[in-house]
Amino acid sequence: MEETKLSILKTIKARRSAHTFKDKPVDTKILKEIFTYGSYAPTHYMKEPWNIKLYQGEGRTAFVDAIIASYIRIGMISDDASPKTLKMVDSMKSFLLSIPHHGLIYFEREADSIRFEEEYAAVCAFIQNAQLAGWEYGVGMLWTITPYMSDPLFLEEIGLNSEVFKIAAVMQIGYPEKVSRNKGRTPIEKKLEIIE
Ligand SMILES: Cc1cc2nc3c(=O)[nH]c(=O)nc-3n(C[C@H](O)[C@H](O)[C@H](O)COP(=O)(O)O)c2cc1C
Repeated sequence: MEETKLSILKTIKARRSAHTFKDKPVDTKILKEIFTYGSYAPTHYMKEPWNIKLYQGEGRTAFVDAIIASYIRIGMISDDASPKTLKMVDSMKSFLLSIPHHGLIYFEREADSIRFEEEYAAVCAFIQNAQLAGWEYGVGMLWTITPYMSDPLFLEEIGLNSEVFKIAAVMQIGYPEKVSRNKGRTPIEKKLEIIE
């Protein structure tokens, strides 16, 4: 018991966001185990609101194309065929395709704002559990929130109705090329107010 506890505590501090990945996919069985650990997150009314679309292998192509199309719609990439734009699209595509797995995490919207917050909070707990479990398997992740996630046409392109579903995050997943520097954290005393 003590050993498990120690391992969890070590992992919490050791985990780092992964920014570059080895060109080696993670076995789907391992990813399923990682997400299974994720799913032990607390969840009000046992709603288990998280859903995952896991893009890997050839499945990444249409996903990456949808991201580029969204960036053009949003205006993050110019809508022209100039050499500069083509070069940008090319490098964006090859960067996104160098990521072995993209885990798009989404949940059903709630009209009630408190319920919405509850579901989003549970999904975030799921994500962090999965990140920590991933670290135990040597699998790194980067939690990303990017503008295309709020583009209704992007959701439509990947088969989600934006009036029904909200994308919480897109996790970039794979074996890390290198572990980034531990930036440390602010001493908790600076954040903690004890009222007694
Ligand atoms: C909700 C959320 C969104 C994030 N979005 C991004 C992102 O879009 N791009 C990125 O590089 N990192 C993103 N991060 C990762 C943070 O940059 C990272 O956690 C932070 O720098 C601390 O580094 P560490 O995770 O290695 O401790 C996000 C983290 C959270 C919690």
